[in-house]
Amino acid sequence: MDPVSRISRLREQVRHHEECYYVLNAPEVSDAEFDALLHELEALEALHPDLVTPDSPTQRVAGRPTEGFPTVEHLAPMLSLDNAYTEEELRAFDERVRKGAAAGEAPVGYVAELKIDGLSIALTYEDGRLVRGATRGDGRRGEDVTANVRTIRAIPLSLRGGPPGRVEVRGEVYLSRTAFARSNAEREEAGEPLFANPRNAAAGTMRNLDPALVARRGLSAFTYQLVTTDGRGPDGHADLLTAMRSWSLPVEPHYRPCAGIDDVIAFCQQWADGRRDMEFDTDGVVIKVDDLALRARLGTTAKFPRWATAFKFPAQQAHTKLRAIRVNVGRTGANTPYAVLEPVLLAGSTISMATLHNAEDLARKDLREGDTVVIEKAGDVIPRVVAPVLSLRPAGSRSWVMPTECAACRSALHRDEEEVVWRCDNSSCPARLRRGLEHFASRSAMNIEGLGEALVDQLIEQGLVRDFGDLYHLTAEQLEALVVAPREPRSERAVPRRLGKVGRHVAEQIARSRENDAARLLYGLGIRHVGEKAASSLTRHFRTVDALLDAAPEALQGVPEIGPVVASAVHAFAAEPRNRALVTKLAEAGVNMASRQPPPELVAAGPFAGKTFVLTGTLPGMTREAATAAIERLGGKVSGSISRKTSYLVVGEDAGSKLAKATQLGVATVTEDQFRALIMNG
Ligand code: IVH
Repeated sequence: MDPVSRISRLREQVRHHEECYYVLNAPEVSDAEFDALLHELEALEALHPDLVTPDSPTQRVAGRPTEGFPTVEHLAPMLSLDNAYTEEELRAFDERVRKGAAAGEAPVGYVAELKIDGLSIALTYEDGRLVRGATRGDGRRGEDVTANVRTIRAIPLSLRGGPPGRVEVRGEVYLSRTAFARSNAEREEAGEPLFANPRNAAAGTMRNLDPALVARRGLSAFTYQLVTTDGRGPDGHADLLTAMRSWSLPVEPHYRPCAGIDDVIAFCQQWADGRRDMEFDTDGVVIKVDDLALRARLGTTAKFPRWATAFKFPAQQAHTKLRAIRVNVGRTGANTPYAVLEPVLLAGSTISMATLHNAEDLARKDLREGDTVVIEKAGDVIPRVVAPVLSLRPAGSRSWVMPTECAACRSALHRDEEEVVWRCDNSSCPARLRRGLEHFASRSAMNIEGLGEALVDQLIEQGLVRDFGDLYHLTAEQLEALVVAPREPRSERAVPRRLGKVGRHVAEQIARSRENDAARLLYGLGIRHVGEKAASSLTRHFRTVDALLDAAPEALQGVPEIGPVVASAVHAFAAEPRNRALVTKLAEAGVNMASRQPPPELVAAGPFAGKTFVLTGTLPGMTREAATAAIERLGGKVSGSISRKTSYLVVGEDAGSKLAKATQLGVATVTEDQFRALIMNG
């Protein structure tokens, strides 16, 4: 057989088996047989690179990690759904629909689908080829995660006989319970923090910049909506789902056409329990009007379609004993009560602790140590204590009283008038220091890899670190010699051990962090209300940490996006001599205090102000980072995708589809040499 036909035959077979395995859950061949087909295809394509097409099943994983996710606009806004929690609310929804339909007493046909607890995704197909995958974002614009979406084997790269032109297919990306358990087992093994639930794991994975890692996690997807610009397609939703399935799109098979609201209610009741046996998390049922013309008549509110609603399953509850109420001290000194519970299994995980929010909430519920309590896990994972079971309250129990002293350092707690939180103001409180150091070292702050909880504990305990500045005086030898015990030994292997090589790595990481942009340092200082964004605006504007700490509150508030709350928090921080001494100590230890971002006036007035650049292909003479920095220094912006608003496409070697798109949209293209000339001449 000639290679062209063989390749095409192999692609058909691989696609078919991917569909059987990933969509229908019914493999027809063994893994080994499937691998053999895929390998033969890969080998043939390697011999005939000119025959490789982007929709070949071998092309799911792009080679390199991406640099970020550009924002893209959805074909139409992605709305969310109104909720119903009870049968009455479902009947009220039906009333509204029937009124809108002017159908009188006649029942309206619905389709009930399982509500998949993942993250929504919009897939753009052009003439049947997958060209884009985007997250929901704010509903109008989302993030372009095409490279990651392509790795999801349930999502076809090309449709089988789908609609022509440009259409958007919408659905939900999720992580199966099996894949979730596998991911967490691997993370535990590697000592990484665990994902709280499959939804968080899926969302985190989708935003990972490395498609190869995304492919390994094994995400899956279901689709349930089609958006076209001209309303082509079947007249009813159930027919649409059938059509989508025939185009090889993954459709969750348990949906049910319902002749009226009674059928819908029966379906909801059936799945409140039935969902537990599924391979994916479902948090409810989505009820949709079947007749698409009626949907158009009903329309939408600003946020929701009037033709659909989500029935949310009741939260899962359990009873257990409240063994004790303890207090945790956070980075900002907040003393927060939490419940120590007799371990109990709830919705698939063992619960032994739950936050109690604040003393007021606790007092309102009158929770007492020794009580039997009702706990529940709503859609999300964070369990909460709902109420005590008064009939089971032991005799002689006493109301719990919030301590007046800090749980860690015993200094007096205080509470601001409008706040519910009790705080410790002692800035050398060991618990605050511990949390503060963890924050200082965290990925978004100074990004000191390896400086986690256990090591921080040791450094404080050994008296080696009393403030952030001390970190920069630690020697590699000191760190290597430290013996660190995992905080909660979970397995036999988790015994205390000498840091050794790891210590050297941490020392290097600390040294490297001296060079960080001042925005990271400012965020790392942990000033209340100063998040990453505020830290970046402030350092960009004032250029050095000193200048910003010397600034009057009015000057601080003059910075775009900085309001009175942030301004007064920064001012209060700066007014404290101890804090100023800390900043001086850091500066003396060689920590960079200056902003490396282009100053705002340059950005506004630079020769590239208002211009957007897109880079494509490799520029032989400069890295992407260097090109991006040059553009930003001159006041321009760099975007990841071409639109009519793009000013220039900088074309390197092996330019891809962006070049074709730029030509089509009439966007100016420049070569590397021309780009250099632009930079020189401004
Ligand atoms: S339809 C305009 N169907 O739930 C209505 N949504 O709470 C579009 N979801 O943003 C949504 N399963 O991400 C629909 N079978 C299903 C769904 C579903 C999960 C998600 C979706 C939506 C969210 C709303």
